[in-house]
Amino acid sequence: MYRLVYYSRNSCPNLGHQEIDAILRVSRRNNAAGGVTGALMFDEGYFAQVLEGAQSAIEETFERIQMDPRHYDVQIVDFSPVSDRTFHHWAMTYTGANLSAPARKLINASGGFDPRSLSGQEIFLQVASLVFAEGRP
Ligand SMILES: Cc1cc2nc3c(=O)[nH]c(=O)nc-3n(C[C@H](O)[C@H](O)[C@H](O)COP(=O)(O)O)c2cc1C
Repeated sequence: MYRLVYYSRNSCPNLGHQEIDAILRVSRRNNAAGGVTGALMFDEGYFAQVLEGAQSAIEETFERIQMDPRHYDVQIVDFSPVSDRTFHHWAMTYTGANLSAPARKLINASGGFDPRSLSGQEIFLQVASLVFAEGRP
């Protein structure tokens, strides 16, 4: 079991629900087929994503993601073996825009989400805290 964490810059100037929904729809279909789970976060121009699964499944998925013109400056910050999944229930869950107040506080406490100043572990923890603070089904 491996976990990959990356961040990237968003290329679409007015990224909204429709664009995010389109990404999530395709991600959920492909990830479910490949045994990949994870979480996507979008906030103020940055994506951060966690992918979990077999090494080969993550590599195949990430090769497609990396080529996607909807983002650029894609930076892998961690790709390591893990003992278990964190996002068991989600082929791809989402957190970010339209966060509830408690979750938003987590981002603001660290001065806004700027992944350039964070380690892979810190990005992973921030995404996971947000997903679980939101109490996603
Ligand atoms: C920020 C971002 C995250 C994405 N995450 C995934 C993902 O987790 N899984 C996936 O299959 N595609 C993901 N995609 C979409 C891929 O880049 C690509 O468009 C898609 O995998 C193509 O699938 P298809 O060949 O089935 O149409 C993501 C795209 C972006 C911009």
